[in-house]
Amino acid sequence: MVPPNTRAGPQPAGDEPQADAVRSVDSTLSVILRRALKEPRMSSGYSSHGRSCTTPHIRSAEEGGALTNSLATYLSEARLKAWNDAIDERHSVRSYQKRPVREEALQSIEGLLRGFSPLCRHARGHLVVQNASRLFTGFLGPFGKISNAPAAVVFAGEFHLPRYMEAVGYLGEGIVLEATSLGLGTCWIAGSFSRDRTLARIRLDPGWKVVALTPLGYESRHTTLGDMALKALAKSDSRKPLSEIVTGLPRPRWPRGLKGALEAAQWAPSARNAQPWRFRVDRDGVALMADTGDVNLNSMKRLDCGIAMLHFEVACCAAGITGSWRFPKPGIPMIAKYRYA
Ligand SMILES: Cc1cc2nc3c(=O)[nH]c(=O)nc-3n(C[C@H](O)[C@H](O)[C@H](O)COP(=O)(O)O)c2cc1C
Repeated sequence: MVPPNTRAGPQPAGDEPQADAVRSVDSTLSVILRRALKEPRMSSGYSSHGRSCTTPHIRSAEEGGALTNSLATYLSEARLKAWNDAIDERHSVRSYQKRPVREEALQSIEGLLRGFSPLCRHARGHLVVQNASRLFTGFLGPFGKISNAPAAVVFAGEFHLPRYMEAVGYLGEGIVLEATSLGLGTCWIAGSFSRDRTLARIRLDPGWKVVALTPLGYESRHTTLGDMALKALAKSDSRKPLSEIVTGLPRPRWPRGLKGALEAAQWAPSARNAQPWRFRVDRDGVALMADTGDVNLNSMKRLDCGIAMLHFEVACCAAGITGSWRFPKPGIPMIAKYRYA
């Protein structure tokens, strides 16, 4: 354990012994290799650093007032470590075994459905544990249909509030990572589900709308042709290189562990694997933008960015890069900024 007062913020990347070796490997290739070898992004082990609260600093011209504490203020070290490992394990699962989800796993997920940090405000999950497969439809007939899912979580957002999409992405991905860490398969579904059948299975308060779903269950040992075709169509096993999605400070000036955190965001799931997130590394933190700059409040890109925000923050906590997300002032075409503590 490192005492909190020894951590005066992220260290320059040059202090990282293996930094040069790691940097020389193309980031996409390194993640594929890591997945194949089941190696974690960081070799340093989990630090207890993130436990301390962040202190407000002078805000930059882009930042608005919304300020949250680090995720480590709300979640246990063990859970954050499990989620960080789950980032490497997670992949979309569309075919399930016909057996129910263990009760303890359902309880663990249930405990998170109302959110696990203030960033989840305006989002909520609803658990469906019977005949969940009936909620899903295919793209063309049965093609791409989720099969045999014993359970599902329906994600809803308070749609008249700004940032509800980011909140749904952030909360939903927490549930996805929790499920992954419990040995369950998941798959974000925003298109191929029946809205009517879903609404008939949950109680939605006025002002809330269903945004997306995930099935929950144990992955089938048999991959169907449809699953393979969908993965190939979306190129699900690859991601844009960091050089395409990250701008700002050159790599030698990145804090130690930041590359791993950006890779965690890079490997987040997104609708059609479009990866609409872009990052700018500044001296005081990392700004997150959508690829097209400004996007409307209902945009699916905001949902994808909310998912990437959670991956990035979980990996930052694991690397000891304490900080918190802040939202920009109105009119600034930025999704959020992760400001170092
Ligand atoms: C917001 C969102 C919506 C998605 N909607 C669908 C969907 O309707 N049907 C589907 O089969 N997959 C859907 N996906 C899964 C993506 O295709 C998948 O995450 C992406 O191809 C990356 O693959 P991976 O999750 O295996 O890493 C969705 C993913 C996200 C994040």
